[in-house]
Amino acid sequence: MVEGMWFAPGNPGTAQLGENLNLAADDLDGIVSFCRANDVGLVVIGPEDPLAAGLADQLHEIQVPVFGPRAAAAELESSKAFCKDIMVRHRVPTGAYRVFSDLNSAISYLQSGARYPVVVKASGLAAGKGVVICKDVREAREATKDMLEGGRHGKAGKTILVEEFLDGPEASIFALTDSRTFMPLESCMDHKQLGDGDVGPNTGGMGAVCPNPLLSPRTRDAVERQVILPTIHGMNHEGRRFQGVLFAGLKLTAAGPKVLEYNVRFGDPECQALMPRLKSDLVPYLLACANGNLEELEAPEWDERPSITVVLAAGGYPASYPTGIPIHGLDDVEQGDALQIFHAGTAEVAGQIVTAGGRILAVTALGSDLYEARQRAYQAVEKIEFEGKTFRTDIGLAALEATQNY
Ligand code: GLY
Repeated sequence: MVEGMWFAPGNPGTAQLGENLNLAADDLDGIVSFCRANDVGLVVIGPEDPLAAGLADQLHEIQVPVFGPRAAAAELESSKAFCKDIMVRHRVPTGAYRVFSDLNSAISYLQSGARYPVVVKASGLAAGKGVVICKDVREAREATKDMLEGGRHGKAGKTILVEEFLDGPEASIFALTDSRTFMPLESCMDHKQLGDGDVGPNTGGMGAVCPNPLLSPRTRDAVERQVILPTIHGMNHEGRRFQGVLFAGLKLTAAGPKVLEYNVRFGDPECQALMPRLKSDLVPYLLACANGNLEELEAPEWDERPSITVVLAAGGYPASYPTGIPIHGLDDVEQGDALQIFHAGTAEVAGQIVTAGGRILAVTALGSDLYEARQRAYQAVEKIEFEGKTFRTDIGLAALEATQNY
């Protein structure tokens, strides 16, 4: 039973659920000391940076149960080059790619060997913004120079991948694993680009739909057999036991599902679409991944109703944006089991909730069908106001079209 929750650092949303700590998520020493002093029974590591930095390793050392992979396994996300290599070694379907750290070699490949469009991607962590789709050699040269020479994305862009462009809709698949067995969760559809109709720059994600109606039971089976299983086994085989949630970003191509990339955490905003549909208690599953006894649990139960999550971002996101802008209307939204508001980049200053990040809030609604979920989510979105409020108006439309329901 959960007796209390602490958040590092948390936000005004998490303050309603437990205690926010004056500790940054990447303050590894501070978090470890706090866990030691407070007899913490489980740590759930949300973001990628502390996973890549080895927070799970440090918690294992002091015998605190932890949900989230060790740094060596988190490389699946923190090094796109490693991720591609391991997929190839274990025959997980993915697009063709080349890895470069040297500008001249990259440019020479772009001018002679590459087939367009190509994807130029920073190998390291870039908060979902390290991917450029280039339609010709000019664009590819520019993206490559920006990363390898211009310092875009800093160290994360010092090694790049030039990847085959995979055509087809995207799907996000999640599997909990203790490295021995895995438990598939419901799938999602992400909306990564800033603008309606998938235009504009890539973001961390502007909205999500759960479940993803494009994934037939047959495709899901294929993904579990051809993607999830060989990845977990491959990681074990290479001495990088993976415990936590494996999140495969897929392209559903004409030749079958192929992995675009892995994340080693619940996605944002996929998590906000996924969790309100989970009817079972989440904590036993997280603990079982940490303790290695996932096989003892039954599959979780899900709400039949689909969900839609709409992200509200700051004006200017994903580039630069102001902070400290008052947010109004939150109290006008009636929350319940069919509607929830999740805080992300918010803060409380003198009793007023203000903006404090790029993606500020996420509104999730469930409905008897996608149409109703969409209506409910957007009605709530309209009630929340802040200067520069930026959101997509088409979240869920592609899913609705896929279900031929509108
Ligand atoms: N929405 C994708 C991610 O969390 O990386």
